[in-house]
Amino acid sequence: MQNNILTTLLATALFACGLNLASSLNCYQCNSSADPNCITNLTAVTTVTCDKSCVTYQATNLTLIRDCLDDCPAGVTCQQCKTDNCNTNLVCQNCQGQEDCSVPSKLTDSLAICSEGDVCITQLNDNSTISRSCGTAASCTDSTKCATCDVAKCNVQLFPADRLQCYTCSGDSCDAVNNSTLTPCGLNNAQCYTLGSSAADMQRGCTSDSGTKCTAESTDANCLLCNNETGCNNLTYNRNGGTCVQCDNCSAAQEATAAAACPESNYTQSVGCYTQTKDNVVSRGCLNALAYNVACTNETDCSSCDTANCNIELVEVDTTFKCQRCYTYNYDTCTEGKSEALACDNTTETKCFAGKWGDLVVRDCLDEASELMQYQCVNEVADCKVCDESGCNLWAYSAAGLIQMSLGLIMGLLIIHFV
Ligand SMILES: *[C@@H]1O[C@H](CO)[C@@H](O)[C@H](O)[C@H]1NC(C)=O
Ligand SMILES: *[C@@H]1O[C@H](CO)[C@@H](O)[C@H](O)[C@H]1NC(C)=O
Ligand SMILES: *[C@@H]1O[C@H](CO)[C@@H](O)[C@H](O)[C@H]1NC(C)=O
Ligand SMILES: *[C@@H]1O[C@H](CO)[C@@H](O)[C@H](O)[C@H]1NC(C)=O
Ligand SMILES: *[C@@H]1O[C@H](CO)[C@@H](O)[C@H](O)[C@H]1NC(C)=O
Ligand SMILES: *[C@@H]1O[C@H](CO)[C@@H](O)[C@H](O)[C@H]1NC(C)=O
Ligand SMILES: *[C@@H]1O[C@H](CO)[C@@H](O)[C@H](O)[C@H]1NC(C)=O
Ligand SMILES: *[C@@H]1O[C@H](CO)[C@@H](O)[C@H](O)[C@H]1NC(C)=O
Ligand SMILES: *[C@@H]1O[C@H](CO)[C@@H](O)[C@H](O)[C@H]1NC(C)=O
Ligand SMILES: *[C@@H]1O[C@H](CO)[C@@H](O)[C@H](O)[C@H]1NC(C)=O
Ligand SMILES: *[C@@H]1O[C@H](CO)[C@@H](O)[C@H](O)[C@H]1NC(C)=O
Ligand SMILES: *[C@@H]1O[C@H](CO)[C@@H](O)[C@H](O)[C@H]1NC(C)=O
Repeated sequence: MQNNILTTLLATALFACGLNLASSLNCYQCNSSADPNCITNLTAVTTVTCDKSCVTYQATNLTLIRDCLDDCPAGVTCQQCKTDNCNTNLVCQNCQGQEDCSVPSKLTDSLAICSEGDVCITQLNDNSTISRSCGTAASCTDSTKCATCDVAKCNVQLFPADRLQCYTCSGDSCDAVNNSTLTPCGLNNAQCYTLGSSAADMQRGCTSDSGTKCTAESTDANCLLCNNETGCNNLTYNRNGGTCVQCDNCSAAQEATAAAACPESNYTQSVGCYTQTKDNVVSRGCLNALAYNVACTNETDCSSCDTANCNIELVEVDTTFKCQRCYTYNYDTCTEGKSEALACDNTTETKCFAGKWGDLVVRDCLDEASELMQYQCVNEVADCKVCDESGCNLWAYSAAGLIQMSLGLIMGLLIIHFV
């Protein structure tokens, strides 16, 4: 017990003595404006004898300095230590969420001087920006949000490694894109945009670029946004529109030989062909000839395809001649001309009629009407008209009539096939 205490005292005395001797110690001395090894390779740097302590700091002009110094200069972040050659502090890239911090080619010379045991860290912040600095490896566990490395200025990589990069340029050299303008977006959730009014006046970049007209929230139809792959904002102002079968009232199946070149597509327009069926008439053509911003979808009875002359698919067209077939004394879909069009019994029928007798509205295929009724409608001597396209008897009647007639009388007099 006694011995142990003596030993401890002796050791303490020797240690104190050693410290006194070490009031002169060795420190690395260098500055990065004269010698880049000061940052990256201390084995190539000489040491000097110093009084009490060694320091590592970045001067306000961004030069890294390792030296003997008893007090760190004011206004800089400084690491101080007091053992031989101790000022070997790791230095890392430093930036805190600024837009350019995400962009390796735009990093500044700002450095973080690490404490002993720290590593370099690249961190994805909650606000989608990036921070780069020193830190403990233990603070960096989620590899999707944080990366570490441990050699000088190693934290200068693109992060995340698959971060979206967009062509970033403007003006007359911005129509055909150039790889040298591919730039990572400042925010991790950004998209690429393309905007322009001619080949000589294009703008490209990230929706997170400060001052851009095409933000992620933009509803400007001229802002074309994409984020499905790096460099996706590469469409030239105009590009070849391809070739498609083009006809307004086409046969149900179309020969590819009826194809012709489409007009050029601008960057907001698709390249491809469509087939659309409207009122049983088939039309085929170039997607970029459809009205601007009218999408070719099932809802518009349109289908599209994107290879040359591809719009030759067979279309099922219902050629059955139909008329609205109904009668009513009430104000309802029949009065309004909104009743369902149904096939006529006579398969060679080519005409529909609709008329109003007193309060009674009647719609049908013309062949269903009695001779008297056909006469009245064809010659429009009653409030009745004939038309000759499938489903055409859809004009509306107003609610009120003057003459009350019994349904039975009308049916007996005018309509032959009603039961
Ligand atoms: C920077 O380093 C160079 C070369 O080692 C040296 O000549 C110069 O005096 C240093 N400057 C300062 C301020 O230490
Ligand atoms: C560091 O400097 C030493 C001495 O000049 C040299 O031998 C070594 O190759 C350098 N290491 C690196 C990684 O540059
Ligand atoms: C920056 O300042 C340090 C010391 O204050 C000096 O050694 C270095 O030469 C300066 N560098 C430049 C580029 O002015
Ligand atoms: C985003 O978050 C980082 C880290 O919290 C912060 O340094 C930076 O200033 C923030 N940037 C913006 C634009 O809010
Ligand atoms: C791409 O841009 C670089 C830098 O502006 C330029 O030197 C190079 O010639 C361009 N390449 C092409 C194919 O336009
Ligand atoms: C441009 O970059 C892409 C992706 O990195 C590469 O596939 C392509 O070959 C490059 N083109 C030129 C002309 O360098
Ligand atoms: C692209 O072409 C369409 C159709 O001609 C036109 O309406 C639109 O304004 C054009 N967009 C741009 C950005 O020039
Ligand atoms: C991204 O979208 C463009 C345009 O729609 C398409 O050409 C390209 O193949 C897509 N890339 C990927 C990887 O899906
Ligand atoms: C644009 O990028 C797509 C991939 O997204 C590629 O297939 C296409 O060839 C590129 N077009 C131009 C004009 O660079
Ligand atoms: C389409 O063609 C058919 C037969 O050639 C013709 O009866 C019909 O009136 C045409 N329709 C239109 C909308 O041009
Ligand atoms: C559109 O129609 C096609 C073919 O009839 C069908 O496969 C597809 O699911 C439809 N899409 C939508 C969104 O209704
Ligand atoms: C069908 O209508 C046509 C023309 O209106 C007529 O000649 C023919 O007799 C009708 N057929 C029947 C079975 O009513």
